[in-house]
Amino acid sequence: MRSCWWSLVLSICLGTNLAYASTAAVASPDRYGAETSQLILHQGGNAVDAAIATAFTLAVTYPEAGNIGGGGFMVIWFEGKPYFLDYRETAPLQASRDMYLDEDRQVIDELSLIGHLASGVPGTVMGLWQAHQRFGTLPWADLLQPAIALANQGFIVPENLQQYGGNALERYQGKTNFADYFAAMTAGHLFKQPELAATLSRIANQGAAEFYMGETASLIVAEMQRGAGFITADDLAQYQAVWREPLIFPWRDYQLVTVAPPSSGGIALSQLLGLKQLRLDDFKAQQHNSAGYVHLLAEIYKRVFADRADYLGDPAFTKVPQQELLAADYLAQRASEINPQAISATKQIRPGLESAQTTHFSIVDHAGNAVSNTYTLNLDFGSGVVVTGAGFLLNNEMDDFSIKPGVPNAFGVVGGAANAIEPGKRMLSSMTPSILVQDNEVRLVIGTPGGSTIFTSVFQVITNLYDFGMPLADAVAAPRFHHQLLPKNQLAMEPYQPLSDEVQQQLSEMGYQLHLQRWSLGDIQAIQLTDRGIEAIADPRGRGKALLIEPVATEEQSQLDGSTM
Ligand code: GLY
Repeated sequence: MRSCWWSLVLSICLGTNLAYASTAAVASPDRYGAETSQLILHQGGNAVDAAIATAFTLAVTYPEAGNIGGGGFMVIWFEGKPYFLDYRETAPLQASRDMYLDEDRQVIDELSLIGHLASGVPGTVMGLWQAHQRFGTLPWADLLQPAIALANQGFIVPENLQQYGGNALERYQGKTNFADYFAAMTAGHLFKQPELAATLSRIANQGAAEFYMGETASLIVAEMQRGAGFITADDLAQYQAVWREPLIFPWRDYQLVTVAPPSSGGIALSQLLGLKQLRLDDFKAQQHNSAGYVHLLAEIYKRVFADRADYLGDPAFTKVPQQELLAADYLAQRASEINPQAISATKQIRPGLESAQTTHFSIVDHAGNAVSNTYTLNLDFGSGVVVTGAGFLLNNEMDDFSIKPGVPNAFGVVGGAANAIEPGKRMLSSMTPSILVQDNEVRLVIGTPGGSTIFTSVFQVITNLYDFGMPLADAVAAPRFHHQLLPKNQLAMEPYQPLSDEVQQQLSEMGYQLHLQRWSLGDIQAIQLTDRGIEAIADPRGRGKALLIEPVATEEQSQLDGSTM
Protein backbone atom coordinates (compact mmCIF):
# COMPACT_ATOMS: atom_id res chain seq x y z
CA MET A 1 0.00 0.00 0.00
CA ARG A 2 1.27 3.43 -0.84
CA SER A 3 2.19 5.53 2.19
CA CYS A 4 0.50 8.84 2.85
CA TRP A 5 3.87 10.58 2.93
CA TRP A 6 4.71 9.07 -0.41
CA SER A 7 1.40 10.20 -1.88
CA LEU A 8 2.14 13.75 -0.73
CA VAL A 9 5.60 13.64 -2.35
CA LEU A 10 4.07 12.12 -5.47
CA SER A 11 1.40 14.78 -5.68
CA ILE A 12 4.05 17.52 -5.36
CA CYS A 13 6.12 15.85 -8.11
CA LEU A 14 3.03 15.70 -10.28
CA GLY A 15 2.36 19.35 -9.60
CA THR A 16 -0.87 18.61 -7.74
CA ASN A 17 0.28 19.69 -4.29
CA LEU A 18 -2.12 22.63 -4.17
CA ALA A 19 -5.09 20.40 -4.81
CA TYR A 20 -3.83 17.85 -2.29
CA ALA A 21 -3.53 20.54 0.32
CA SER A 22 -6.97 22.06 -0.11
CA THR A 23 -9.57 21.97 2.65
CA ALA A 24 -11.76 18.89 2.62
CA ALA A 25 -15.32 18.70 3.93
CA VAL A 26 -18.05 16.35 5.03
CA ALA A 27 -21.77 16.81 5.63
CA SER A 28 -23.15 13.79 7.42
CA PRO A 29 -26.55 12.93 8.95
CA ASP A 30 -24.91 12.50 12.37
CA ARG A 31 -21.78 13.56 14.18
CA TYR A 32 -20.28 10.08 14.29
CA GLY A 33 -20.33 9.87 10.51
CA ALA A 34 -18.72 13.31 10.20
CA GLU A 35 -16.00 12.46 12.72
CA THR A 36 -15.25 9.17 10.95
CA SER A 37 -14.80 11.00 7.63
CA GLN A 38 -12.47 13.45 9.31
CA LEU A 39 -10.40 10.66 10.85
CA ILE A 40 -10.03 8.79 7.57
CA LEU A 41 -9.13 11.93 5.61
CA HIS A 42 -6.55 12.80 8.27
CA GLN A 43 -5.11 9.32 7.93
CA GLY A 44 -4.51 10.09 4.24
CA GLY A 45 -7.59 8.35 2.86
CA ASN A 46 -9.42 9.82 -0.10
CA ALA A 47 -13.13 10.69 -0.42
CA VAL A 48 -14.05 7.09 -1.29
CA ASP A 49 -12.16 5.70 1.72
CA ALA A 50 -13.96 8.23 3.90
CA ALA A 51 -17.31 7.35 2.33
CA ILE A 52 -16.85 3.63 3.00
CA ALA A 53 -15.88 4.22 6.64
CA THR A 54 -18.74 6.69 7.10
CA ALA A 55 -21.29 4.29 5.63
CA PHE A 56 -20.19 1.54 8.03
CA THR A 57 -20.26 4.00 10.94
CA LEU A 58 -23.81 5.12 10.13
CA ALA A 59 -24.84 1.44 10.04
CA VAL A 60 -24.08 1.54 13.79
CA THR A 61 -25.05 5.04 14.92
CA TYR A 62 -27.92 5.80 12.51
CA PRO A 63 -29.78 2.48 12.60
CA GLU A 64 -33.03 3.92 11.23
CA ALA A 65 -31.43 4.26 7.78
CA GLY A 66 -27.65 3.69 7.88
CA ASN A 67 -27.18 0.05 7.10
CA ILE A 68 -25.46 -3.07 5.94
CA GLY A 69 -28.83 -4.75 5.31
CA GLY A 70 -30.03 -2.32 2.64
CA GLY A 71 -28.69 -0.70 -0.50
CA GLY A 72 -28.02 2.58 -2.24
CA PHE A 73 -26.20 4.63 -4.83
CA MET A 74 -22.81 6.34 -4.85
CA VAL A 75 -21.93 9.11 -7.29
CA ILE A 76 -18.21 9.81 -7.42
CA TRP A 77 -16.07 12.50 -8.98
CA PHE A 78 -12.52 11.15 -8.99
CA GLU A 79 -9.47 12.73 -10.60
CA GLY A 80 -11.66 14.70 -13.00
CA LYS A 81 -13.98 11.86 -14.04
CA PRO A 82 -17.55 10.90 -13.06
CA TYR A 83 -18.61 7.45 -11.79
CA PHE A 84 -21.88 5.91 -10.62
CA LEU A 85 -22.05 2.81 -8.46
CA ASP A 86 -25.44 1.10 -8.15
CA TYR A 87 -25.68 -1.11 -5.06
CA ARG A 88 -29.47 -1.20 -4.96
CA GLU A 89 -31.12 -4.33 -3.53
CA THR A 90 -32.57 -6.95 -5.88
CA ALA A 91 -35.75 -8.99 -5.67
CA PRO A 92 -34.98 -12.54 -4.41
CA LEU A 93 -35.04 -15.27 -7.07
CA GLN A 94 -38.22 -16.70 -5.56
CA ALA A 95 -40.01 -13.34 -5.82
CA SER A 96 -42.92 -13.00 -8.22
CA ARG A 97 -45.11 -10.24 -9.54
CA ASP A 98 -48.13 -11.01 -7.37
CA MET A 99 -46.36 -12.08 -4.19
CA TYR A 100 -48.09 -9.40 -2.10
CA LEU A 101 -51.62 -10.08 -3.41
CA ASP A 102 -54.27 -12.38 -1.95
CA GLU A 103 -56.50 -14.75 -3.96
CA ASP A 104 -58.76 -11.84 -4.83
CA ARG A 105 -55.75 -9.94 -6.12
CA GLN A 106 -55.99 -7.44 -3.27
CA VAL A 107 -52.79 -6.13 -1.70
CA ILE A 108 -52.14 -7.90 1.63
CA ASP A 109 -51.67 -5.29 4.34
CA GLU A 110 -48.07 -4.66 5.47
CA LEU A 111 -46.60 -7.73 3.73
CA SER A 112 -44.20 -5.67 1.61
CA LEU A 113 -43.33 -3.47 4.57
CA ILE A 114 -42.95 -5.55 7.74
CA GLY A 115 -41.31 -8.91 8.24
CA HIS A 116 -39.15 -11.29 6.27
CA LEU A 117 -40.91 -11.08 2.90
CA ALA A 118 -40.36 -7.33 2.70
CA SER A 119 -36.61 -7.52 2.11
CA GLY A 120 -34.64 -7.34 -1.09
CA VAL A 121 -31.16 -8.89 -1.31
CA PRO A 122 -28.89 -6.38 0.47
CA GLY A 123 -26.36 -4.50 -1.65
CA THR A 124 -24.53 -2.17 0.74
CA VAL A 125 -21.55 -4.34 1.70
CA MET A 126 -20.88 -5.34 -1.91
CA GLY A 127 -21.21 -1.71 -3.03
CA LEU A 128 -18.74 -0.46 -0.46
CA TRP A 129 -16.39 -3.34 -1.30
CA GLN A 130 -16.48 -2.60 -5.03
CA ALA A 131 -15.94 1.11 -4.39
CA HIS A 132 -12.89 0.18 -2.33
CA GLN A 133 -11.56 -2.22 -4.98
CA ARG A 134 -11.63 0.56 -7.55
CA PHE A 135 -10.66 3.69 -5.63
CA GLY A 136 -9.64 2.79 -2.06
CA THR A 137 -6.16 3.60 -0.79
CA LEU A 138 -6.34 2.68 2.91
CA PRO A 139 -6.70 -0.98 3.88
CA TRP A 140 -10.31 -2.21 3.87
CA ALA A 141 -10.08 -3.46 7.46
CA ASP A 142 -8.95 -0.02 8.70
CA LEU A 143 -12.08 1.55 7.24
CA LEU A 144 -14.33 -0.58 9.44
CA GLN A 145 -12.48 0.14 12.69
CA PRO A 146 -14.46 3.28 13.69
CA ALA A 147 -17.75 1.40 13.17
CA ILE A 148 -16.53 -1.65 15.10
CA ALA A 149 -15.39 0.54 18.00
CA LEU A 150 -18.75 2.33 18.13
CA ALA A 151 -20.67 -0.94 18.03
CA ASN A 152 -18.48 -2.45 20.76
CA GLN A 153 -18.09 0.53 23.05
CA GLY A 154 -21.45 2.11 22.30
CA PHE A 155 -22.60 5.54 21.19
CA ILE A 156 -24.82 8.09 22.91
CA VAL A 157 -28.40 7.77 21.67
CA PRO A 158 -29.80 11.12 20.41
CA GLU A 159 -33.34 12.27 21.32
CA ASN A 160 -34.81 11.81 17.88
CA LEU A 161 -33.38 8.31 17.49
CA GLN A 162 -35.09 7.24 20.71
CA GLN A 163 -38.32 8.78 19.39
CA TYR A 164 -38.08 7.00 16.01
CA GLY A 165 -37.19 3.78 17.83
CA GLY A 166 -40.25 4.16 20.08
CA ASN A 167 -42.54 4.56 17.05
CA ALA A 168 -40.94 1.51 15.44
CA LEU A 169 -41.46 -0.58 18.61
CA GLU A 170 -45.19 0.08 18.33
CA ARG A 171 -45.24 -0.63 14.61
CA TYR A 172 -43.39 -3.94 14.82
CA GLN A 173 -44.83 -5.11 18.15
CA GLY A 174 -45.31 -8.88 18.08
CA LYS A 175 -44.45 -9.01 14.36
CA THR A 176 -40.63 -8.97 14.30
CA ASN A 177 -37.68 -9.30 16.67
CA PHE A 178 -36.95 -5.53 16.54
CA ALA A 179 -37.58 -5.05 20.28
CA ASP A 180 -35.02 -7.73 21.23
CA TYR A 181 -32.30 -5.55 19.72
CA PHE A 182 -33.47 -1.94 19.89
CA ALA A 183 -35.85 -1.57 22.87
CA ALA A 184 -32.88 -0.61 25.03
CA MET A 185 -32.05 2.55 23.05
CA THR A 186 -32.43 5.38 25.57
CA ALA A 187 -31.69 9.02 24.80
CA GLY A 188 -28.52 10.26 26.44
CA HIS A 189 -27.25 6.75 27.27
CA LEU A 190 -24.65 4.50 25.67
CA PHE A 191 -26.07 1.89 23.32
CA LYS A 192 -23.85 -1.09 22.48
CA GLN A 193 -24.35 -3.62 19.67
CA PRO A 194 -21.99 -6.56 20.31
CA GLU A 195 -23.44 -8.85 17.61
CA LEU A 196 -23.14 -6.09 15.03
CA ALA A 197 -19.55 -5.46 16.16
CA ALA A 198 -18.74 -9.14 15.58
CA THR A 199 -20.38 -9.05 12.13
CA LEU A 200 -18.42 -5.93 11.15
CA SER A 201 -15.21 -7.55 12.42
CA ARG A 202 -15.80 -10.59 10.21
CA ILE A 203 -16.44 -8.33 7.21
CA ALA A 204 -13.31 -6.32 8.07
CA ASN A 205 -11.18 -9.45 8.17
CA GLN A 206 -12.67 -11.39 5.25
CA GLY A 207 -14.14 -8.73 2.94
CA ALA A 208 -17.53 -8.69 1.22
CA ALA A 209 -17.35 -12.44 0.54
CA GLU A 210 -17.94 -12.99 4.24
CA PHE A 211 -21.30 -11.19 4.08
CA TYR A 212 -22.44 -12.93 0.89
CA MET A 213 -20.97 -16.42 1.33
CA GLY A 214 -19.62 -16.72 4.89
CA GLU A 215 -21.03 -16.89 8.38
CA THR A 216 -23.10 -13.71 7.93
CA ALA A 217 -24.70 -15.19 4.81
CA SER A 218 -25.60 -18.32 6.80
CA LEU A 219 -27.14 -16.19 9.55
CA ILE A 220 -29.22 -14.26 6.97
CA VAL A 221 -30.46 -17.50 5.40
CA ALA A 222 -31.30 -18.95 8.82
CA GLU A 223 -33.22 -15.77 9.66
CA MET A 224 -35.14 -16.03 6.39
CA GLN A 225 -36.01 -19.65 7.13
CA ARG A 226 -37.29 -18.69 10.58
CA GLY A 227 -39.71 -16.16 9.05
CA ALA A 228 -40.57 -17.85 5.74
CA GLY A 229 -38.65 -15.17 3.84
CA PHE A 230 -37.34 -15.62 0.29
CA ILE A 231 -33.63 -14.67 0.42
CA THR A 232 -31.47 -17.77 -0.13
CA ALA A 233 -27.77 -18.56 -0.17
CA ASP A 234 -27.95 -18.36 -3.99
CA ASP A 235 -29.45 -14.88 -3.87
CA LEU A 236 -26.62 -13.70 -1.67
CA ALA A 237 -23.86 -15.44 -3.62
CA GLN A 238 -25.10 -13.96 -6.89
CA TYR A 239 -25.49 -10.37 -5.73
CA GLN A 240 -23.32 -7.84 -7.58
CA ALA A 241 -23.16 -4.06 -7.42
CA VAL A 242 -23.01 -2.44 -10.87
CA TRP A 243 -20.80 0.36 -12.19
CA ARG A 244 -23.11 2.26 -14.54
CA GLU A 245 -22.74 5.27 -16.77
CA PRO A 246 -23.63 8.26 -14.61
CA LEU A 247 -26.35 10.50 -15.97
CA ILE A 248 -24.70 13.75 -17.08
CA PHE A 249 -27.11 16.61 -17.77
CA PRO A 250 -25.85 19.97 -19.04
CA TRP A 251 -27.46 22.80 -17.08
CA ARG A 252 -26.39 26.39 -17.64
CA ASP A 253 -22.59 26.28 -17.56
CA TYR A 254 -22.62 23.31 -15.18
CA GLN A 255 -22.79 19.59 -15.64
CA LEU A 256 -25.10 17.73 -13.30
CA VAL A 257 -23.50 14.36 -12.50
CA THR A 258 -26.14 12.10 -11.01
CA VAL A 259 -27.81 8.70 -10.89
CA ALA A 260 -29.33 6.85 -13.82
CA PRO A 261 -32.01 4.13 -13.47
CA PRO A 262 -32.80 2.09 -11.43
CA SER A 263 -33.19 5.41 -9.68
CA SER A 264 -35.74 7.82 -11.05
CA GLY A 265 -33.95 10.64 -9.23
CA GLY A 266 -31.39 11.66 -11.86
CA ILE A 267 -33.88 11.80 -14.73
CA ALA A 268 -36.38 13.64 -12.53
CA LEU A 269 -33.87 16.22 -11.24
CA SER A 270 -32.62 16.82 -14.79
CA GLN A 271 -36.17 17.30 -16.04
CA LEU A 272 -36.93 19.71 -13.20
CA LEU A 273 -33.85 21.82 -13.97
CA GLY A 274 -34.48 21.66 -17.72
CA LEU A 275 -38.18 22.57 -17.50
CA LYS A 276 -37.55 25.47 -15.15
CA GLN A 277 -34.82 26.78 -17.43
CA LEU A 278 -37.29 26.76 -20.34
CA ARG A 279 -39.80 28.84 -18.37
CA LEU A 280 -37.35 31.27 -16.78
CA ASP A 281 -39.35 34.29 -17.95
CA ASP A 282 -42.33 33.12 -15.90
CA PHE A 283 -40.15 32.75 -12.82
CA LYS A 284 -38.53 36.19 -13.09
CA ALA A 285 -41.43 37.98 -11.44
CA GLN A 286 -41.82 35.41 -8.67
CA GLN A 287 -40.44 35.80 -5.19
CA HIS A 288 -39.05 32.80 -3.32
CA ASN A 289 -41.87 30.59 -1.99
CA SER A 290 -44.58 33.03 -3.15
CA ALA A 291 -47.88 31.52 -4.34
CA GLY A 292 -46.91 32.10 -7.97
CA TYR A 293 -43.56 30.41 -7.47
CA VAL A 294 -45.06 27.40 -5.68
CA HIS A 295 -47.68 27.04 -8.41
CA LEU A 296 -45.12 27.13 -11.24
CA LEU A 297 -43.01 24.48 -9.53
CA ALA A 298 -46.11 22.35 -8.90
CA GLU A 299 -46.90 22.53 -12.61
CA ILE A 300 -43.41 21.23 -13.37
CA TYR A 301 -43.44 18.59 -10.63
CA LYS A 302 -46.66 16.94 -11.78
CA ARG A 303 -45.28 16.36 -15.27
CA VAL A 304 -42.08 14.84 -13.93
CA PHE A 305 -44.06 12.51 -11.66
CA ALA A 306 -46.28 11.43 -14.53
CA ASP A 307 -43.18 10.29 -16.43
CA ARG A 308 -41.78 8.57 -13.35
CA ALA A 309 -44.89 6.44 -12.91
CA ASP A 310 -45.09 5.34 -16.52
CA TYR A 311 -41.58 4.85 -17.82
CA LEU A 312 -39.03 4.08 -15.14
CA GLY A 313 -37.70 0.81 -13.76
CA ASP A 314 -34.60 -1.41 -13.69
CA PRO A 315 -32.85 -0.98 -17.08
CA ALA A 316 -31.90 -4.69 -17.07
CA PHE A 317 -35.61 -5.57 -17.28
CA THR A 318 -37.32 -2.65 -18.96
CA LYS A 319 -36.32 -0.25 -21.70
CA VAL A 320 -36.08 3.13 -20.01
CA PRO A 321 -36.41 5.97 -22.57
CA GLN A 322 -33.81 8.07 -20.77
CA GLN A 323 -32.60 9.99 -23.81
CA GLU A 324 -36.14 10.71 -24.98
CA LEU A 325 -37.20 11.95 -21.55
CA LEU A 326 -34.30 14.41 -21.49
CA ALA A 327 -34.33 15.41 -25.16
CA ALA A 328 -34.57 19.15 -25.84
CA ASP A 329 -37.72 18.86 -27.98
CA TYR A 330 -39.48 16.67 -25.40
CA LEU A 331 -38.66 19.09 -22.57
CA ALA A 332 -39.79 22.00 -24.77
CA GLN A 333 -43.12 20.27 -25.40
CA ARG A 334 -43.60 19.53 -21.68
CA ALA A 335 -42.61 23.11 -20.76
CA SER A 336 -45.15 24.49 -23.23
CA GLU A 337 -47.95 22.63 -21.38
CA ILE A 338 -47.29 24.55 -18.14
CA ASN A 339 -50.07 26.96 -17.25
CA PRO A 340 -48.66 29.86 -15.21
CA GLN A 341 -52.12 31.16 -14.27
CA ALA A 342 -54.06 28.10 -13.16
CA ILE A 343 -53.76 24.43 -12.26
CA SER A 344 -53.62 22.45 -15.49
CA ALA A 345 -55.55 19.20 -15.79
CA THR A 346 -53.44 16.08 -15.66
CA LYS A 347 -54.24 12.46 -16.33
CA GLN A 348 -55.28 10.35 -13.41
CA ILE A 349 -52.38 8.58 -11.82
CA ARG A 350 -51.82 8.24 -8.13
CA PRO A 351 -48.40 8.97 -6.75
CA GLY A 352 -48.08 9.43 -3.01
CA LEU A 353 -45.64 10.26 -0.28
CA GLU A 354 -42.98 8.14 1.39
CA SER A 355 -41.40 8.49 4.79
CA ALA A 356 -38.08 10.27 5.09
CA GLN A 357 -35.85 7.58 6.49
CA THR A 358 -33.22 7.06 3.89
CA THR A 359 -29.92 8.81 4.56
CA HIS A 360 -27.29 10.75 2.66
CA PHE A 361 -23.75 12.06 3.16
CA SER A 362 -21.49 14.23 1.01
CA ILE A 363 -17.67 14.27 1.11
CA VAL A 364 -14.96 16.26 -0.68
CA ASP A 365 -11.36 15.25 -0.04
CA HIS A 366 -8.13 17.29 -0.03
CA ALA A 367 -7.56 16.55 -3.73
CA GLY A 368 -10.99 17.77 -4.81
CA ASN A 369 -12.48 14.29 -5.32
CA ALA A 370 -16.09 13.99 -4.21
CA VAL A 371 -18.56 11.34 -3.11
CA SER A 372 -22.31 11.84 -2.95
CA ASN A 373 -23.86 8.77 -1.33
CA THR A 374 -27.47 7.95 -0.50
CA TYR A 375 -28.36 4.58 1.00
CA THR A 376 -31.37 3.16 2.75
CA LEU A 377 -33.37 0.45 4.44
CA ASN A 378 -36.41 2.12 2.77
CA LEU A 379 -38.65 3.15 5.69
CA ASP A 380 -37.11 3.78 9.09
CA PHE A 381 -35.63 0.56 10.50
CA GLY A 382 -36.65 -1.26 7.29
CA SER A 383 -38.61 -4.48 7.68
CA GLY A 384 -38.05 -4.48 11.45
CA VAL A 385 -36.34 -7.87 11.14
CA VAL A 386 -32.90 -8.11 12.75
CA VAL A 387 -30.68 -10.94 11.53
CA THR A 388 -30.43 -13.01 14.70
CA GLY A 389 -26.82 -13.48 15.74
CA ALA A 390 -25.61 -10.82 13.32
CA GLY A 391 -27.32 -7.78 14.87
CA PHE A 392 -28.32 -5.77 11.79
CA LEU A 393 -31.66 -4.78 10.31
CA LEU A 394 -32.93 -5.92 6.92
CA ASN A 395 -34.54 -3.52 4.48
CA ASN A 396 -38.17 -3.36 3.35
CA GLU A 397 -37.16 -2.19 -0.12
CA MET A 398 -39.55 -4.62 -1.89
CA ASP A 399 -42.22 -2.00 -1.23
CA ASP A 400 -40.50 0.28 -3.76
CA PHE A 401 -41.70 -2.06 -6.51
CA SER A 402 -45.12 -1.49 -7.96
CA ILE A 403 -46.64 -4.34 -5.95
CA LYS A 404 -49.73 -4.33 -8.14
CA PRO A 405 -49.25 -2.42 -11.39
CA GLY A 406 -51.38 0.72 -11.44
CA VAL A 407 -52.38 0.44 -7.77
CA PRO A 408 -50.61 2.55 -5.15
CA ASN A 409 -48.60 0.71 -2.53
CA ALA A 410 -48.95 1.44 1.17
CA PHE A 411 -47.45 4.91 0.68
CA GLY A 412 -49.40 5.82 -2.43
CA VAL A 413 -46.61 5.38 -4.98
CA VAL A 414 -47.74 3.91 -8.25
CA GLY A 415 -45.98 2.36 -11.18
CA GLY A 416 -46.73 0.09 -14.05
CA ALA A 417 -45.16 -2.93 -15.67
CA ALA A 418 -41.80 -1.16 -15.85
CA ASN A 419 -41.50 -1.46 -12.07
CA ALA A 420 -43.39 -4.73 -11.49
CA ILE A 421 -41.68 -7.39 -9.35
CA GLU A 422 -39.44 -9.87 -11.20
CA PRO A 423 -36.78 -12.19 -9.75
CA GLY A 424 -33.37 -10.51 -9.61
CA LYS A 425 -34.77 -7.10 -10.58
CA ARG A 426 -33.88 -3.83 -8.86
CA MET A 427 -36.84 -1.82 -7.52
CA LEU A 428 -37.26 1.76 -8.74
CA SER A 429 -35.77 4.39 -6.43
CA SER A 430 -35.99 8.15 -6.02
CA MET A 431 -32.57 8.54 -4.43
CA THR A 432 -30.65 11.38 -6.09
CA PRO A 433 -27.06 11.70 -4.87
CA SER A 434 -25.66 14.37 -7.18
CA ILE A 435 -22.59 16.47 -7.96
CA LEU A 436 -22.59 19.74 -9.91
CA VAL A 437 -19.39 20.30 -11.87
CA GLN A 438 -18.22 23.45 -13.64
CA ASP A 439 -15.09 23.56 -15.82
CA ASN A 440 -14.13 20.14 -14.50
CA GLU A 441 -14.24 21.33 -10.87
CA VAL A 442 -16.72 20.15 -8.26
CA ARG A 443 -19.07 22.99 -7.25
CA LEU A 444 -21.79 21.24 -5.25
CA VAL A 445 -22.18 17.81 -3.65
CA ILE A 446 -25.75 17.23 -2.52
CA GLY A 447 -28.38 14.67 -1.59
CA THR A 448 -31.11 13.91 0.92
CA PRO A 449 -33.50 11.23 2.16
CA GLY A 450 -37.23 11.61 1.59
CA GLY A 451 -38.50 8.94 -0.83
CA SER A 452 -40.41 10.58 -3.63
CA THR A 453 -39.66 14.03 -2.16
CA ILE A 454 -35.91 13.55 -2.63
CA PHE A 455 -35.48 15.12 -6.04
CA THR A 456 -37.91 17.97 -5.42
CA SER A 457 -35.96 18.82 -2.24
CA VAL A 458 -32.58 18.70 -4.03
CA PHE A 459 -34.05 20.79 -6.84
CA GLN A 460 -35.36 23.47 -4.45
CA VAL A 461 -31.98 23.81 -2.75
CA ILE A 462 -30.23 24.13 -6.14
CA THR A 463 -32.78 26.78 -7.14
CA ASN A 464 -32.28 28.62 -3.84
CA LEU A 465 -28.53 28.67 -4.46
CA TYR A 466 -28.30 29.49 -8.13
CA ASP A 467 -31.47 31.50 -8.81
CA PHE A 468 -32.00 33.28 -5.50
CA GLY A 469 -28.29 33.56 -4.63
CA MET A 470 -28.83 32.33 -1.07
CA PRO A 471 -25.85 31.32 1.06
CA LEU A 472 -25.68 27.52 1.42
CA ALA A 473 -26.99 27.52 5.01
CA ASP A 474 -30.06 29.57 4.03
CA ALA A 475 -30.65 27.56 0.85
CA VAL A 476 -30.76 24.33 2.88
CA ALA A 477 -32.78 25.77 5.78
CA ALA A 478 -35.43 27.49 3.63
CA PRO A 479 -38.92 25.91 3.91
CA ARG A 480 -39.66 23.33 1.23
CA PHE A 481 -42.88 22.02 -0.29
CA HIS A 482 -43.77 19.07 -2.48
CA HIS A 483 -46.28 18.13 -5.13
CA GLN A 484 -46.42 14.86 -7.03
CA LEU A 485 -49.44 14.99 -9.30
CA LEU A 486 -51.82 13.20 -6.98
CA PRO A 487 -53.52 13.34 -4.58
CA LYS A 488 -54.97 15.80 -7.04
CA ASN A 489 -53.86 19.41 -6.47
CA GLN A 490 -52.33 18.55 -3.11
CA LEU A 491 -49.31 20.56 -1.94
CA ALA A 492 -47.39 19.02 0.94
CA MET A 493 -45.74 21.27 3.50
CA GLU A 494 -43.43 20.34 6.35
CA PRO A 495 -43.91 20.86 10.10
CA TYR A 496 -40.37 22.29 10.21
CA GLN A 497 -41.74 25.48 8.61
CA PRO A 498 -44.94 25.62 6.59
CA LEU A 499 -45.47 28.21 3.86
CA SER A 500 -46.69 31.57 5.15
CA ASP A 501 -50.41 31.94 5.95
CA GLU A 502 -50.80 34.47 3.17
CA VAL A 503 -49.23 32.17 0.55
CA GLN A 504 -51.34 29.25 1.77
CA GLN A 505 -54.47 31.39 1.41
CA GLN A 506 -53.53 32.41 -2.16
CA LEU A 507 -52.77 28.81 -3.14
CA SER A 508 -56.09 27.64 -1.65
CA GLU A 509 -57.88 30.25 -3.74
CA MET A 510 -56.15 28.85 -6.83
CA GLY A 511 -57.57 25.41 -6.03
CA TYR A 512 -54.68 23.72 -4.20
CA GLN A 513 -55.22 21.64 -1.06
CA LEU A 514 -52.52 22.45 1.47
CA HIS A 515 -51.41 19.41 3.45
CA LEU A 516 -49.15 19.63 6.49
CA GLN A 517 -47.37 16.29 6.58
CA ARG A 518 -45.94 14.68 9.71
CA TRP A 519 -42.27 14.61 8.79
CA SER A 520 -39.83 17.17 7.43
CA LEU A 521 -39.03 17.32 3.75
CA GLY A 522 -35.59 15.76 3.68
CA ASP A 523 -32.30 16.05 5.53
CA ILE A 524 -29.99 17.68 2.98
CA GLN A 525 -26.24 17.17 3.38
CA ALA A 526 -24.43 19.54 1.05
CA ILE A 527 -20.96 20.87 0.29
CA GLN A 528 -20.50 23.92 -1.92
CA LEU A 529 -17.25 25.09 -3.49
CA THR A 530 -17.14 28.65 -4.79
CA ASP A 531 -14.43 31.20 -5.47
CA ARG A 532 -14.81 32.15 -1.80
CA GLY A 533 -13.87 28.64 -0.65
CA ILE A 534 -15.56 25.50 0.61
CA GLU A 535 -18.64 25.30 2.83
CA ALA A 536 -20.47 22.30 4.25
CA ILE A 537 -23.96 22.27 5.74
CA ALA A 538 -25.99 19.63 7.54
CA ASP A 539 -29.73 20.28 7.31
CA PRO A 540 -31.11 21.81 10.53
CA ARG A 541 -34.08 19.41 10.12
CA GLY A 542 -31.91 16.46 11.23
CA ARG A 543 -29.15 15.62 13.69
CA GLY A 544 -26.37 16.00 11.12
CA LYS A 545 -22.97 17.55 11.40
CA ALA A 546 -20.80 19.25 8.80
CA LEU A 547 -17.05 19.71 9.16
CA LEU A 548 -14.36 21.49 7.21
CA ILE A 549 -11.22 19.41 7.42
CA GLU A 550 -7.85 21.08 7.09
CA PRO A 551 -4.98 18.96 5.83
CA VAL A 552 -2.76 17.77 8.66
CA ALA A 553 0.60 19.56 8.73
CA THR A 554 3.42 17.74 7.01
CA GLU A 555 5.11 16.83 10.30
CA GLU A 556 1.90 15.41 11.75
CA GLN A 557 1.35 13.64 8.46
CA SER A 558 4.76 11.94 8.76
CA GLN A 559 3.92 10.85 12.29
CA LEU A 560 0.57 9.50 11.13
CA ASP A 561 2.30 7.65 8.32
CA GLY A 562 4.74 6.15 10.79
CA SER A 563 2.17 5.22 13.38
CA THR A 564 -0.83 4.06 11.42
CA MET A 565 0.22 2.98 8.00
N1 GLY B 1 -36.58 3.62 -0.65
C1 GLY B 1 -36.62 4.95 -1.12
C2 GLY B 1 -36.07 5.11 -2.48
O1 GLY B 1 -35.23 4.34 -2.89
O2 GLY B 1 -36.47 6.02 -3.18
